[in-house]
This record gives sequence, C-alpha cells and structure tokens, in this order.
Amino acid sequence: MMNKELPYNENWIFKQADDPSFAAQPIQDGQHVTLPHSWNASDGQGESEAYYRGACWYQRLFQLESEHMGKQIYLEIGAAGNKGEVYVNGHLAGESRCGYAMFRVALNRLLHEGENLISIRVDNGYDNEVLPLLADFTFYGGLYREVKLLLLDHLHFDVMDNGRDGVYVTQKRIGAGLFELTVEGQIINHRAARESGRVQLELRNQEGKTVCEIGADVTLEKNTAFKLVQEIADPVLWHGTEQPYLYEAVVTVESEGEVKDRRSVEIGFRTIQATTDRGILLNDKPLKLNGVCRHQDFGGKGNAITKAEMELDMALIREVGANSVRLAHYQHDDYFYRLCDRYGLLVWAEIPYISIPSTKDPHNHNAFEQLERLIKQAYNHCSIYCWGVQNEITIAVETEHTHTNIQKLVQLAKQLDPNRMTVQANINGVADESVINSYTDMIGYNLYYGWYYGEIKDLGDRFDSFHRANPEIPLILSEYGVDTNPRFHSYTPKVQDYSEEYQLMFHHNALDSIASRPFVQGGYVWNMFDFGSANRHEGGVRGRNQKGLVTIDRKLKKDAFFLYKAYWSDEPFVHLTGRRFAERHQAQNEITVLTNLRHIRMYNNGKLVAEMRSDAKVKVAHEVTLYEGNNLIKVEGYGESGSLYTDEMTLQLVSKANPAYEYVKPESGAHVVNWFEQFDLSDTEELKLREGYYSTFDTIDELFENEQAQAVFVKYFAHVTDNPFFEVTRSVMSIEKMAQLTFYNIPPELLNVINKELNAIPK
Ligand code: GCU
Repeated sequence: MMNKELPYNENWIFKQADDPSFAAQPIQDGQHVTLPHSWNASDGQGESEAYYRGACWYQRLFQLESEHMGKQIYLEIGAAGNKGEVYVNGHLAGESRCGYAMFRVALNRLLHEGENLISIRVDNGYDNEVLPLLADFTFYGGLYREVKLLLLDHLHFDVMDNGRDGVYVTQKRIGAGLFELTVEGQIINHRAARESGRVQLELRNQEGKTVCEIGADVTLEKNTAFKLVQEIADPVLWHGTEQPYLYEAVVTVESEGEVKDRRSVEIGFRTIQATTDRGILLNDKPLKLNGVCRHQDFGGKGNAITKAEMELDMALIREVGANSVRLAHYQHDDYFYRLCDRYGLLVWAEIPYISIPSTKDPHNHNAFEQLERLIKQAYNHCSIYCWGVQNEITIAVETEHTHTNIQKLVQLAKQLDPNRMTVQANINGVADESVINSYTDMIGYNLYYGWYYGEIKDLGDRFDSFHRANPEIPLILSEYGVDTNPRFHSYTPKVQDYSEEYQLMFHHNALDSIASRPFVQGGYVWNMFDFGSANRHEGGVRGRNQKGLVTIDRKLKKDAFFLYKAYWSDEPFVHLTGRRFAERHQAQNEITVLTNLRHIRMYNNGKLVAEMRSDAKVKVAHEVTLYEGNNLIKVEGYGESGSLYTDEMTLQLVSKANPAYEYVKPESGAHVVNWFEQFDLSDTEELKLREGYYSTFDTIDELFENEQAQAVFVKYFAHVTDNPFFEVTRSVMSIEKMAQLTFYNIPPELLNVINKELNAIPK
C-alpha cells in the first residue's frame, strides 16, 4: 500500500497551563479544540493589556490500529509558536525551536499497541536564544497550523531532513530557451537488507500531458541519495501574474514492482535577475516589483488561520494588482507560497532575525536553524525569488558578530540554494556606505520618511543618495507606510494624525518616487493588512499596527487600497475617496477619484459637477459645492466598448467639524514628546571622556552594576524602563545607541550633560 497522509486536527485537548505531568498524564479539565489553534486569538490583538506568553499543553489519544502495522509513523506539526516539544507516552519524541516552520517527529519507537498519549508542550514565552526576541508583532502561541499523521512504507523519500518533500526540484536556464531540470533527494529504507528499486520523474504540462519521463535504477541502502537531470527545451515559461504557468513534476520510488512513495511538485520555469539599469528582469523582461508585505494573522483568529483565510488574503492581494509579496517576518504557511506559485506573485521569503539578535548566543544558531528550514521547506516554490536574512537587526546593536552572522547566513543560503538571490531589510539608520550593504545580492531599506522621521518627499532623495554610494547594488524599498485608522479624517492631513487622507498622500508620493528610478527594483507597502502588535497602543486602537491597506478583519479597504489598485490593476473601476469623512464642515470640497479609466464624470444629486479625461490615476474635482442635507456624490467611469463603472457616496454639510474625525493624542505623561525639557541643557561646554569612568557608551546593564551610575540613568530615563523594548535590549543598548533611535527622542546636548555626571563615577 502507498504512503498516506492523514489530517490530524480534530479532538485535541488544550490547557492554558504548564504542568510537566501532562507529558505522561491525561489533562483532566482541558478544553476541546480543533487545530489550527492559538491561545492569543484575542489578547494578542489588544483585547487586554498583556497577552499570555508562556507554556501550554495540547494532548490527543492515538490508537495504534492494525492499519498502522508495519508502517513508519510520523507526526507532522505545521508550526508550534514559538517552541514545541512532542511527548509520546511521557517520552520526548522531538522538538522545534523554529516557531514558524514545520517539523516532524518519528513515533514508532515510542508507540505501543492500543492507546497512546501524544502530548505537545508549546511555549511562546521569552527565550533569549529563540527568535524573534523583539518585534512589532504579536508572538502568538499555539499549534496554529495543520497537524498531519504520515503513515509511510518501509521505503520513502526522506521526511526528516528538516525539509518538506524530501525531493528538491531545481530549474535553471542553460541556453537560449533551454532549461535543465534537476530532481534530487534521499530515499530511506527502513529494512536491514538492501533492495533494488527505481526513481522516476515524470514532467506533466498543464493539460496533464507527459512532457518527459526519466528514471534511474538505484540500490536502496539505509539512506540513498539520488539525482535525476534532464534538459527541457522551450518550456512554457512561468511569467509572474501574466502567465503563472506551472508544470507538475511527479517523482516516485518503486520497488518490488510497486510505487512505494510519490511526490507531486508544481514547478515553473523562469529566470530572475536584479539589475541597476533595468530593475528586476523576469525571463529577461523588466518587471517593477509592485509589492505588498503580508503578516499571517487575522482579526479574531490570531495566526490560527485556515486555507479559507489564506485564499481571501490572496484574493485581496490580487485585487489590488500586486505582482510581488514580501512574506514578513518569518516563514509562512506552505499553502500561501503555493498560492503565490499559482497566481504568479514573486515572493520575498525571510526569517525572523529581526530587531535584536540573541544576547546570550553571539552566533545566533537559531537564525541558522530557521533559515535552513525555510529554504529546505520552501525550496520547490518557483515564486520565491530571494531569501531575506535579516530585518532591522542593527536597530539596537551592531557588532562584529552582527556582521559575521549576516555574512554566514548568506553563505548558508547560497550553500542550500545557489540559484536564488539573497536580500536584507535595513533600518533607515544603516548608512548608505555601510559594509552591510555589500553582503547580499540586493539591499532593502525600510523607509518611513514622513512618518517616524523626515518628510514624505525625502524618500526620493534617500534613494538617490544610496544609488550614488552604491551604483552597482539593486535597491528595494522593503517597507513603507503609515498607521491609519479609517475613523480619522482631515482636510489638512499631517503626519501622525492617523487619517485616511494622510495615508493616501504618503503612498501617492512613494509610488511616484519608486516608478521614476530604474535602480529601485520596486517597493513593498507596509502592510497589506493591519496586524496584531500587542505592545502597541496608538491611533485610537490597542494591540494593532494599523499601517494596512485593509483592516485586520479584511472587511474594510482604506482609500489607499484603491490608489494602488488604480496604478497596478487592469480591472476597470472607479472609487470615490473620503466616504467615511461623511460630515463636511466646508461647503467647497476637493473630491478625489481613484481610477484606471481615462474618462469620468462626477455628479452631485444628479447634477454634473466635473468631467475629466486623462491618464491620471488620481483625478481631483476641485471646488465641488455641497448643499445642506444629503449630497449624493456619484462618479461614472467609461471603459472601452462603452462599459460603465460607478461609485457613489453620501456627504452632509454640517456647521462644525466633527470632533470624532480628529485623533487626539493622549498626553500619556510617560511618553510626552519633549520629556527632556525638565533638564537644564544650557551647559554645552564639551567634555573629554576619561577612561576607567562610566559614560554614555556603556550598556545599560553595565551602568546598573553600579548604584550611582544606575541612579543617573534612572534620573533621565525612568520613563522608558517599563517599555518591553528597553527590557530586551538593555544588555546591549547604551545611551549613545538610544540617542540614535528616533523612538527615544534624545537631544544631542543631553548626552553631554549626562556624561558630565556619569564620567565622574569610577568603574
Ligand atoms: C519596521 C519593522 C516592522 C514594523 C514597522 C512599523 O520597519 O520592520 O516590523 O511593523 O517598522 O513600525 O510599522
């Protein structure tokens, strides 16, 4: 009988408590759950102040049935956030420290006839050696992806190499129209005796027709490596969203006249290069990356999402017209990469080596473990064009270890996959000239000019300064965006007002800045969807980052969504902006239409108020007069062949501005903007620092070793010590380093003042 894969998601018992006896003893008062499951579905998105971080247990009884006899049995866990330990009848069967990757455990040696207890301890508590340590998203705990039971024959492709299929399919162009297809992997034979067998590859086109068939006889020892290579002339190319053509590679191993194991891998033939003069070349044709970033979580569900939610995300990403997606900041569900293959989106895949490295393990082994799993598990997805090795890892500390680790991660990526590019996402503070920028094939920068710092228009200048410093390095805008609460509106949008109008303005500028520069390969909007970020509380909402084009429940598309749709999508439409800004206190209004149609007409209560014909995607009708009562604003767009597209909204003229539209920043005392004003900064005489005494260059932990130095720190920074960022970074963060982060808002004069006090304290 052939190998079987059974879903194993039902009938789990869950307990939100950590008790080691659960490894061997049934939980008495647990809750029945179906996987995927997360215990932070609501508290991880702002329902309560803190979200539960710690260990919890899942259990399930496993009946060893006669159908299992003679089978090799494995449990496949889609993901355990962030660490998982699997016990069978009280014995540890396997574990994972990669909370976003799949892992498997072999069960046979621990199973006995009849009833067996499978217990899984899942832990999303803080562990300095397991990444991510700190980031702007919720670290949801749970068995949040599908679990499967694998019932395999004595002969099968390797399922325990940290990969997924045990079969690695590589396509490579070796001449004009000529590709080389390589299929390699390992076959495991659980019997003591060697066997003769055959590995076979059949390549089928989309019509199911066999394009080629090759095979090799193999002698099957305990572990047998195999490799099949075949030239394919003029395959139909996988060409992004225009033509996501996939072949199916069916790989089998046969012995004793029957197929023992079989894999079906979807594969696209394509070439991808990054250039500084023509941008990304997909099959030699330039393609600007019109990208969005995606986090995997969903309103009310946390990261415990099903295929239906993933399909909805894909439908929205397709609707906006994106041709690329950055799947941030960790490995996503395999099904999502598969959807990207099928719909032709180019994928930037990455690991959570983010914000700060482990401070206990200078080598950050966990980053390497996660990279290995990501690459091996997602290797066969032709949509992936690059591996991301770090995101803003220098935010708090940058040492030689940081540099060596990034370089070694790149080496590992190249060793596991020599055919794909590497990339990293830098924080804006990384200098254009930084040596870090020479480590990967492409460089991404997360740039928030006009939100966290600077002005909207600075974006283009930064692109240009980077290019001047690195004319040979392809640049990507790996993140950009602004928090937006669609409740807030303004006639005069400005930074940090959280209004829908500011988001529109910000993104409009970015689109132009990217489009006009060929060395910029493209950009990734941060973010396609609002997402859970338990430590946030701003813009009128707790527990969420609101930079999405769509809300976390996927129900509301903010106006900026339609801006991108107008630029990127061919699906004809018209959209009136400002519909949630329904009460207008000015009679004269600018009304903006977002559309990919040339010709539109606008009406107010049936009367024509504007008519425009142009290629502009953003069409503004000036001085539209509103009247007392309801104003039904309607827009008509005329497509080719006379088709009509419409949108409408109702606006009311009111006498006073509606205060509910304005975001009022709570004066939170603790984080007042000019917190330093209470200190005397008038003494500007520069100090020469003495060796052997404390200074702003010592880490906070070092300062805290001395009572006096600690007192100086607390005097100035008591207001930040309750911040989780502070807690996690104190062993590496100095006051100097803090001063480089806009977040702390430290004026340079203050450093001198603090040094005068610190540098008087001997070490
Ligand atoms: C960073 C980071 C994101 C974060 C974003 C933000 O650049 O990479 O994870 O969510 O900024 O502040 O919104």
